[in-house]
Amino acid sequence: MPGLLLRAGRIPGTLAYRVGSRFGGDVLKVAIFGLGYVGSTAAGCIASQGHTVIGVDVSAAKVETLNAGRAPVYEPGLEELIAAAHADGRISAVATLTDELDDCDLAVVCVGTPSGVDGAHNMSYIAQVTRSIATALKPDRTKPLTLAYRSTMRPGSCENIIWPILESHLGDAAASAVELVYNPEFLREASAIEDYFHPPKIVIGTLGGKPSATMAKLHEGIEAPVFEVGLREAEITKFVDNSWHAVKVAFANEIGRVCQNLGISAKTVHEIFVSDTKLNISPHYTRPGGAFGGSCLPKDVRALQYIAADTGSATHLVDSLLRSNEAHKHHQFVKATEGLAPGAKVLLVGLAFKAETDDLRESPAVDMARKLLEAGYDLDVYDPHIAPENLVGQNLGYAYSLLPQIDDLLVAKEEAERRDYAVIVATNRLVGDLALGAGTRIVDISVIA
Ligand SMILES: NC(=O)c1ccc[n+]([C@@H]2O[C@H](COP(=O)([O-])OP(=O)(O)OC[C@H]3O[C@@H](n4cnc5c(N)ncnc54)[C@H](O)[C@@H]3O)[C@@H](O)[C@H]2O)c1
Repeated sequence: MPGLLLRAGRIPGTLAYRVGSRFGGDVLKVAIFGLGYVGSTAAGCIASQGHTVIGVDVSAAKVETLNAGRAPVYEPGLEELIAAAHADGRISAVATLTDELDDCDLAVVCVGTPSGVDGAHNMSYIAQVTRSIATALKPDRTKPLTLAYRSTMRPGSCENIIWPILESHLGDAAASAVELVYNPEFLREASAIEDYFHPPKIVIGTLGGKPSATMAKLHEGIEAPVFEVGLREAEITKFVDNSWHAVKVAFANEIGRVCQNLGISAKTVHEIFVSDTKLNISPHYTRPGGAFGGSCLPKDVRALQYIAADTGSATHLVDSLLRSNEAHKHHQFVKATEGLAPGAKVLLVGLAFKAETDDLRESPAVDMARKLLEAGYDLDVYDPHIAPENLVGQNLGYAYSLLPQIDDLLVAKEEAERRDYAVIVATNRLVGDLALGAGTRIVDISVIA
């Protein structure tokens, strides 16, 4: 598992992107492949920090534009950065590589990864550009070229597509000639320069999560949390971020439609929603782990679906939530029972929907108990807060309708600690209260590490 390092940006204060300024450290020679929105912005910004930049693009028109000191794409402020760097002789471009990489410290790949016909990214530009880099690279370089990919591509691309292309051209020398990095880009068009110098985070993916001295130099002076992680964690970052942004937009619009159809001010509702930075706009409810349950979330999601249907407001995202949650419960059951012999003895720790309550209503742990019993496992349940004789009302009805055997399943702490279980399925932190023998197999379904 690659290491994760989070540290604060190295130089405090705000970085102004003054043309020609350097913030200490060495000057890098940087090749940028792909002069689209990402590559042109990177070229202008990196050159403005005093580094030397050579742009490479298959488009002769873009190369010509850059060599004339102009920006190949329109982005506010970019024309000025490129013009100034060009006047200083720190930026130029070529359409075909000759020996430009020989004295480069870093190559940054920003070619497009558009959708393929099956929805997966079309990786042909990545493959082509990697082949041209591998062909141009001298295997006996004195210093490895740091080869950083910024294009968005699926996890495993660096290891399964890029590295084999490099190896097929460079052989064993690939390992000494190239430092492979994945460095996702978080800029937004129209504010790309501001975003380049003030990113929400810097993610550097390398084999084994090793720090890259060249990437550290490149980001010198940029204030942001830095994550030095494995290639795949870095590669998936953009998918997670962009899908999350899409979820937020779709959710906002679904709520907007419902409000509009009910004659409620969506603007006011939005103001109330975003004002809550404790539970709404916060890290809460974003950690992969347990399914949602309890007396409120499933009930109120269901009721919102009803209101939406009643008012003719299509809410496809909200409609998918309960199904997604059921899918997660099944996933947890599959993980918890992986490799278990038929009829094995299992202890489920935590039956209520969270620790420190006896509320069983729509508890995902009750579903887990039911699934384990249906699959024929010999089940015990430990939850010190549940006393069947104290269950009343809906709580009682839910417990007995889903788990009629509840009285026979519950065991006391001493029994749970004494008995020999093939696996202990932990649904919450209660498992920490048990004194369990070393070597006891515990599957904690409240966390996906
Ligand atoms: N545009 C954004 O806001 C943004 C933000 C973050 C990440 N990204 C990702 O960055 C990547 C690039 O996005 P973009 O919007 O800049 O793309 P773009 O289409 O604007 O630019 C891609 C450039 O690559 C060039 N190119 C293609 N093959 C080449 C080759 N073999 N050698 C050299 N140049 C080559 C093209 O001519 C083009 O100029 C994509 O993977 C995208 O998903 C984009």
